[in-house]
Amino acid sequence: MIVCKSREEISAAVDKIRRQGRSLGFIPTMGALHQGHISLVKKSIADNDCTAVSVFVNPTQFNNPNDLKTYPRTVDADIALLEQTGADIAFIPSVETMYPEGLENVTESYDFGAIGAVMEGAARPGHFNGVGIVVHRLFDLVKPDRAYFGMKDFQQIAIIREMVRQRNIDIEIIPCPIVRETDGLALSSRNTRLNPEQRNQAVQISQTLFKAADLGQTRSIADLKSFVIDTVNNVPLLEVEYFEIVDGQTMQPVANWDDADWIVGCITVNVGDVRLIDNITLKQ
Ligand code: PAJ
Repeated sequence: MIVCKSREEISAAVDKIRRQGRSLGFIPTMGALHQGHISLVKKSIADNDCTAVSVFVNPTQFNNPNDLKTYPRTVDADIALLEQTGADIAFIPSVETMYPEGLENVTESYDFGAIGAVMEGAARPGHFNGVGIVVHRLFDLVKPDRAYFGMKDFQQIAIIREMVRQRNIDIEIIPCPIVRETDGLALSSRNTRLNPEQRNQAVQISQTLFKAADLGQTRSIADLKSFVIDTVNNVPLLEVEYFEIVDGQTMQPVANWDDADWIVGCITVNVGDVRLIDNITLKQ
């Protein structure tokens, strides 16, 4: 595995792959890698001749400075895990490499319309703009054929698809299923920040979503929404930031089960100062 840090190094590595006529899959990450990330890497390795993974904690997508400061960073372990999994390229740029103009001079601006105005877009102003900026810059540098994203960040996939559409980017976006702990908790880099008691209670997030999926269309959308919010809020250390039942294509809340073919419940829960997200398909 080649570890690239500079623009020159990553460009040389991907140009070589291109010259050899080999296909390239790409997984952008913020590191603190776990089996959720690795599932995307494995899928890319299966689909492509070569696989590149970026590890970059992107400052422009953090609206909360404390979240950026406390975001787990485990670069050496990440490199070892990627090497062991069989990735070909690890791209680990510095902030200066990704933002040579300086963070205060970053000017790109994206309008994702209604898709970006709800849920994470409403709760974290500027977040999706930062995601769009960094993923676009990474796509420009890595020039993959395919890019892999986890459905844990459900709305993020819709944002990336919209960016690719708006900017005419010729990269196939591949959504991958959520990887969970055996008790159901969705794997997340932020889980390492939970203390044992918080970790025990956090399992109620996914367990409640599973119950909601079982109840499904036997309840109205409004009832199911209240059920999830009340059940999670009844767990002492959990506080629901939002739970929305949305059209899986447009991300807009639905009022009735007939409003869309694909309906997904998306939740964000604060556990102390750790913000966890999860989602589940309720109709497809
Ligand atoms: P990060 O949170 O590190 O996630 C990188 C990728 O791994 C995302 O596509 C995410 O959805 C996926 N992922 C995380 N946990 C997962 C799980 N339990 N199961 C399946 N996939 C999972 O998402 C980001 O980084 C950033 O916003 C990024 C796209 C890299 C831009 O900075």
